[in-house]
Amino acid sequence: MPSAVSMQGITKRFPLVVANEDVDFDLRWGEIHALIGENGAGKSTLMKVLYGLQSADAGTVAVDGRPVHIRSARDAIALGIGMVHQHFMLVEPLTVTENLVLGSEPRMGPGIDYGSARRRTRDLIARFGFDLDADARIEELPVGLQQQVEILKALYREARILVMDEPTAVLTPQETHGLFDFLREFARQGNAVVFISHKLDEVMALCDRMSVMRDGRMIGTVDRAETDVRRLATMMVGREVLLRVEKGASEVGEVRLEAADLRLRHPTKHQALLDAVTFEVRAGEVLGVAGIEGNGQTELVECLTGLRVADSGTVRLDGEDVTALGARARRERGLSHVPEDRNERGLCRPFSAALNTILGDHHRPPFSGRFGLLDREAIDAHARRLTEAYDVRPRATHVLAASYSGGNAQKLIVARELERDPRVLVLAQPTRGVDIGAIEFIHRQIVRARDLGLAVLLVSADLNEVMSLSDRIIVLFEGRVMGELTQAEATAETLGLLMAGSTLGEVAA
Ligand SMILES: Nc1ncnc2c1ncn2[C@@H]1O[C@H](COP(=O)(O)OP(=O)(O)O)[C@@H](O)[C@H]1O
Ligand SMILES: [Mg+2]
Repeated sequence: MPSAVSMQGITKRFPLVVANEDVDFDLRWGEIHALIGENGAGKSTLMKVLYGLQSADAGTVAVDGRPVHIRSARDAIALGIGMVHQHFMLVEPLTVTENLVLGSEPRMGPGIDYGSARRRTRDLIARFGFDLDADARIEELPVGLQQQVEILKALYREARILVMDEPTAVLTPQETHGLFDFLREFARQGNAVVFISHKLDEVMALCDRMSVMRDGRMIGTVDRAETDVRRLATMMVGREVLLRVEKGASEVGEVRLEAADLRLRHPTKHQALLDAVTFEVRAGEVLGVAGIEGNGQTELVECLTGLRVADSGTVRLDGEDVTALGARARRERGLSHVPEDRNERGLCRPFSAALNTILGDHHRPPFSGRFGLLDREAIDAHARRLTEAYDVRPRATHVLAASYSGGNAQKLIVARELERDPRVLVLAQPTRGVDIGAIEFIHRQIVRARDLGLAVLLVSADLNEVMSLSDRIIVLFEGRVMGELTQAEATAETLGLLMAGSTLGEVAA
């Protein structure tokens, strides 16, 4: 039987990188095939070549045994290929049905036959066991259901080969189970799935074969039966990695950071961004904040760090009410912040690495002397010490921050925020888009900070990260704290229910 897809010798160059270098990839009918690799490995590019969104510089593609030239998404769709992107491409004010038929509306005379479109949509929803209302507007649907609409769009166009690009990044564990059930059923019916991910546990649970990419090259393809998470990680990174965070019991001290009844309304929509958020973080502990992104995490961190003023409520640092103080004043009181957007807020990209290691403290000794003049020598020595200790590469401290990779940029920020002797550390999505090697390192630094007695607040959409690093966990949903659990109590299942809006009482019942 011919392969569903056979790609051979695919090369795709961009001005700065070779995203795919002589890549072979084979997808069989009936299988779920994982495409894994660190950020920037070339996974999305390879699939965009297949879907007609990028044209390869070299290589051939065959679909179901026939050589094809795919020049556009339209060509790909005609060949039975569907792709669900990391960022959805739905039209928010339109309904599910309207999104499905967009661009291929069934005609009835001069008009559009919505009756038959709606019937077909309902049939598809029923056939694949989705939990969707054909007449719901996209903007009213939670992210998990929007993803179902994206999948339905492909199915509506009769896709038999489905490419899912990091689909679980935006889902709760329960939604992920639902997605996996669908994908298994879809493959069982003889179709084929490419599942892009860097979550190795997931890949082992779902996929029949795994192809691993690194630095634009295909490292190899393995059967699930002949591999495990550790071996996959080694193929991905090119060396052995420590997958579990080593963490002893914590010695908890006094309260250092407090949020009391923080409330914030959306400036235009009738919606609460933060709703009576209350918690405290003590010295020597990590308080994790779990939740699907967009449930108030960003606003919470902004209110805590002084980048935004809440409508009401209080923030205290070491017992002092700092609600009215700005970011710099809070920083001077020992609050460090690793922001979620390292390019916008974490680094000043046109500045050198050295200057970036003193950002926020540049106006103080030892970096500035009398008259506010920067002391270049002190700054360079500081930067050399940090880049060495945190293994930031390249080591040269005069290079521009803009030229660092994601992982090295993040290590630079973590180094700066930790090595200023803070009392409280607020981390937002500290390892997003960072490679496994750097994640391992950053996690160890977070545990070290806690063991040194800092109060650590860890906001992360990565449930594994929250569960492995936190001593206690709160869950945010639509700006509210749905419940608090100790590390021992927190399972992915319980957290998932809270993340989807259940209360602790409902979860226990
Ligand atoms: N449109 C583009 N223009 C320039 N460079 C790109 C473009 N798309 C991807 N790249 C680069 O190609 C490499 C591979 O990217 P990508 O395929 O998105 O990786 P992955 O999906 O594995 O994270 C990266 O270095 C990325 O920066
Ligand atoms: Mg990608």
